[in-house]
Amino acid sequence: MSNGDVSQGRRRFLIGATSVVGGVGVVGAAVPFVASWNPSAKAEAAGAPVTVTVDKIEPGQQITVEWRGKPVWIIRRTEDMLANIEKMTPKLKDPESEAASQQPTYISGTYRSLKPEFVVLVGICTHLGCVPTYRPEVAPADLGDEWLGGLFCPCHGSKFDLSGRVLSGQPAPLNLEVPPYRFDNDSTMTIGLDPEAA
Ligand code: FES
Repeated sequence: MSNGDVSQGRRRFLIGATSVVGGVGVVGAAVPFVASWNPSAKAEAAGAPVTVTVDKIEPGQQITVEWRGKPVWIIRRTEDMLANIEKMTPKLKDPESEAASQQPTYISGTYRSLKPEFVVLVGICTHLGCVPTYRPEVAPADLGDEWLGGLFCPCHGSKFDLSGRVLSGQPAPLNLEVPPYRFDNDSTMTIGLDPEAA
Protein backbone atom coordinates (compact mmCIF):
# COMPACT_ATOMS: atom_id res chain seq x y z
CA MET A 1 0.00 0.00 0.00
CA SER A 2 1.42 3.41 -0.94
CA ASN A 3 1.59 6.36 1.40
CA GLY A 4 -1.18 7.90 -0.63
CA ASP A 5 -3.40 4.94 0.03
CA VAL A 6 -2.64 5.08 3.73
CA SER A 7 -3.53 8.76 3.80
CA GLN A 8 -6.73 8.00 1.97
CA GLY A 9 -7.59 5.30 4.47
CA ARG A 10 -6.80 7.65 7.33
CA ARG A 11 -9.09 10.30 5.88
CA ARG A 12 -11.88 7.80 5.52
CA PHE A 13 -11.35 6.61 9.07
CA LEU A 14 -11.57 10.15 10.38
CA ILE A 15 -14.70 10.83 8.38
CA GLY A 16 -16.19 7.56 9.64
CA ALA A 17 -15.24 8.28 13.24
CA THR A 18 -16.81 11.73 13.03
CA SER A 19 -20.04 10.40 11.67
CA VAL A 20 -20.24 7.71 14.37
CA VAL A 21 -19.69 10.18 17.17
CA GLY A 22 -22.23 12.54 15.65
CA GLY A 23 -24.83 9.84 15.07
CA VAL A 24 -27.88 9.13 17.16
CA GLY A 25 -28.39 5.70 18.65
CA VAL A 26 -24.78 4.59 18.59
CA VAL A 27 -23.84 5.65 22.09
CA GLY A 28 -23.46 2.03 23.17
CA ALA A 29 -21.00 1.38 20.38
CA ALA A 30 -19.02 4.54 21.07
CA VAL A 31 -18.56 4.00 24.80
CA PRO A 32 -16.15 1.04 24.59
CA PHE A 33 -13.92 3.08 22.31
CA VAL A 34 -13.57 5.79 24.94
CA ALA A 35 -13.43 3.50 27.95
CA SER A 36 -10.79 1.20 26.56
CA TRP A 37 -8.43 3.61 24.92
CA ASN A 38 -6.23 5.19 27.49
CA PRO A 39 -2.86 6.36 26.19
CA SER A 40 -1.86 9.91 26.90
CA ALA A 41 -2.56 12.15 23.94
CA LYS A 42 1.12 12.95 23.72
CA ALA A 43 2.15 9.30 23.59
CA GLU A 44 -0.47 8.50 21.00
CA ALA A 45 0.66 11.38 18.83
CA ALA A 46 4.16 9.94 18.83
CA GLY A 47 2.93 6.55 17.68
CA ALA A 48 3.62 4.94 21.04
CA PRO A 49 2.22 1.52 21.97
CA VAL A 50 -1.36 1.60 23.19
CA THR A 51 -2.45 -0.43 26.22
CA VAL A 52 -6.05 -1.61 26.15
CA THR A 53 -8.22 -3.21 28.82
CA VAL A 54 -9.78 -6.24 27.17
CA ASP A 55 -11.51 -8.17 29.93
CA LYS A 56 -14.53 -5.84 29.82
CA ILE A 57 -15.14 -6.50 26.15
CA GLU A 58 -18.29 -8.58 25.87
CA PRO A 59 -18.23 -11.86 23.93
CA GLY A 60 -19.03 -11.01 20.33
CA GLN A 61 -18.20 -7.33 20.78
CA GLN A 62 -15.80 -5.32 18.67
CA ILE A 63 -14.02 -2.23 19.99
CA THR A 64 -11.87 0.24 18.08
CA VAL A 65 -8.71 1.90 19.34
CA GLU A 66 -6.35 4.16 17.46
CA TRP A 67 -2.71 3.22 16.99
CA ARG A 68 -0.34 5.20 14.81
CA GLY A 69 -3.29 7.02 13.29
CA LYS A 70 -5.01 3.81 12.22
CA PRO A 71 -8.20 2.21 13.50
CA VAL A 72 -7.35 -1.07 15.22
CA TRP A 73 -10.12 -3.47 16.07
CA ILE A 74 -10.21 -5.93 18.92
CA ILE A 75 -12.96 -8.52 18.59
CA ARG A 76 -13.78 -10.93 21.38
CA ARG A 77 -14.85 -14.06 19.55
CA THR A 78 -17.33 -16.57 20.91
CA GLU A 79 -17.08 -20.35 20.57
CA ASP A 80 -19.66 -20.23 17.78
CA MET A 81 -17.64 -17.60 15.94
CA LEU A 82 -14.50 -19.71 16.20
CA ALA A 83 -16.38 -22.74 14.84
CA ASN A 84 -17.61 -20.67 11.90
CA ILE A 85 -14.10 -19.42 11.16
CA GLU A 86 -13.03 -23.05 10.73
CA LYS A 87 -15.76 -23.51 8.11
CA MET A 88 -14.48 -20.55 6.07
CA THR A 89 -11.03 -21.97 5.31
CA PRO A 90 -11.90 -23.57 1.92
CA LYS A 91 -13.36 -20.27 0.69
CA LEU A 92 -10.35 -18.05 1.29
CA LYS A 93 -7.67 -16.47 -0.86
CA ASP A 94 -4.85 -16.92 1.67
CA PRO A 95 -6.15 -19.22 4.42
CA GLU A 96 -2.71 -19.85 5.90
CA SER A 97 -1.75 -16.16 5.95
CA GLU A 98 1.26 -16.73 3.76
CA ALA A 99 1.58 -13.04 2.80
CA ALA A 100 4.24 -12.06 5.33
CA SER A 101 3.39 -8.37 5.17
CA GLN A 102 0.01 -8.94 6.83
CA GLN A 103 0.98 -10.16 10.29
CA PRO A 104 3.96 -10.55 12.64
CA THR A 105 5.77 -13.90 12.47
CA TYR A 106 4.24 -15.03 15.78
CA ILE A 107 0.72 -14.79 14.32
CA SER A 108 -0.40 -17.83 12.32
CA GLY A 109 -3.08 -20.43 11.97
CA THR A 110 -6.79 -20.24 11.41
CA TYR A 111 -7.41 -17.77 14.21
CA ARG A 112 -4.50 -15.41 13.46
CA SER A 113 -4.21 -14.48 17.13
CA LEU A 114 -2.22 -15.04 20.30
CA LYS A 115 -5.38 -16.26 22.05
CA PRO A 116 -8.30 -17.59 19.98
CA GLU A 117 -10.76 -15.48 21.93
CA PHE A 118 -9.29 -12.14 20.82
CA VAL A 119 -8.40 -11.09 17.31
CA VAL A 120 -6.63 -7.78 16.65
CA LEU A 121 -6.86 -6.29 13.17
CA VAL A 122 -6.00 -3.03 11.46
CA GLY A 123 -9.38 -1.81 10.23
CA ILE A 124 -8.29 -0.71 6.77
CA CYS A 125 -9.33 -2.63 3.67
CA THR A 126 -6.40 -4.00 1.69
CA HIS A 127 -8.07 -3.00 -1.59
CA LEU A 128 -8.18 0.82 -1.57
CA GLY A 129 -8.17 1.68 2.10
CA CYS A 130 -11.81 2.01 3.16
CA VAL A 131 -12.87 0.99 6.65
CA PRO A 132 -14.85 -2.28 6.60
CA THR A 133 -17.82 -2.79 8.86
CA TYR A 134 -18.19 -5.45 11.54
CA ARG A 135 -20.92 -7.86 10.54
CA PRO A 136 -21.00 -10.71 13.08
CA GLU A 137 -24.48 -11.94 12.15
CA VAL A 138 -24.98 -15.27 10.40
CA ALA A 139 -26.85 -15.17 7.04
CA PRO A 140 -28.17 -11.59 7.17
CA ALA A 141 -30.48 -10.74 4.27
CA ASP A 142 -28.04 -8.36 2.56
CA LEU A 143 -25.01 -10.66 2.71
CA GLY A 144 -26.64 -13.98 1.92
CA ASP A 145 -27.04 -17.46 3.39
CA GLU A 146 -23.34 -18.30 3.20
CA TRP A 147 -22.25 -15.39 5.36
CA LEU A 148 -21.03 -16.74 8.71
CA GLY A 149 -19.98 -13.45 10.25
CA GLY A 150 -17.03 -11.29 9.33
CA LEU A 151 -15.97 -7.89 8.06
CA PHE A 152 -17.58 -6.31 5.01
CA CYS A 153 -16.10 -3.44 3.06
CA PRO A 154 -18.88 -1.21 1.74
CA CYS A 155 -16.74 0.49 -0.91
CA HIS A 156 -16.37 -2.40 -3.36
CA GLY A 157 -17.83 -5.31 -1.44
CA SER A 158 -14.77 -7.18 -0.15
CA LYS A 159 -15.57 -9.80 2.45
CA PHE A 160 -13.32 -11.04 5.25
CA ASP A 161 -13.91 -13.72 7.86
CA LEU A 162 -13.68 -13.11 11.60
CA SER A 163 -9.91 -13.68 11.45
CA GLY A 164 -9.60 -10.91 8.84
CA ARG A 165 -8.91 -13.41 6.04
CA VAL A 166 -10.22 -12.29 2.66
CA LEU A 167 -12.61 -14.54 0.77
CA SER A 168 -11.71 -15.71 -2.74
CA GLY A 169 -12.98 -13.60 -5.62
CA GLN A 170 -12.93 -10.30 -3.74
CA PRO A 171 -11.29 -7.07 -4.91
CA ALA A 172 -9.12 -6.95 -1.77
CA PRO A 173 -5.84 -8.75 -2.55
CA LEU A 174 -4.70 -9.52 0.98
CA ASN A 175 -5.93 -10.47 4.42
CA LEU A 176 -6.41 -7.61 6.85
CA GLU A 177 -3.24 -6.68 8.70
CA VAL A 178 -2.61 -7.92 12.24
CA PRO A 179 -0.51 -5.35 14.11
CA PRO A 180 2.18 -6.32 16.62
CA TYR A 181 0.66 -6.81 20.06
CA ARG A 182 1.10 -8.71 23.27
CA PHE A 183 -0.85 -9.62 26.36
CA ASP A 184 0.51 -7.91 29.45
CA ASN A 185 -1.72 -10.05 31.70
CA ASP A 186 -5.21 -11.57 31.53
CA SER A 187 -6.94 -8.22 31.38
CA THR A 188 -4.76 -5.96 29.24
CA MET A 189 -2.95 -6.05 25.94
CA THR A 190 -0.54 -3.60 24.38
CA ILE A 191 -0.75 -2.85 20.68
CA GLY A 192 2.58 -1.92 19.14
CA LEU A 193 4.76 -4.21 21.26
CA ASP A 194 5.76 -7.78 20.46
CA PRO A 195 5.40 -10.55 23.07
CA GLU A 196 8.44 -10.83 25.33
CA ALA A 197 9.41 -14.12 23.75
CA ALA A 198 9.00 -12.99 20.13
S1 FES B 1 -11.64 -0.47 -0.52
FE1 FES B 1 -12.53 -2.24 0.35
S2 FES B 1 -13.30 -3.31 -1.33
FE2 FES B 1 -12.37 -1.58 -2.23
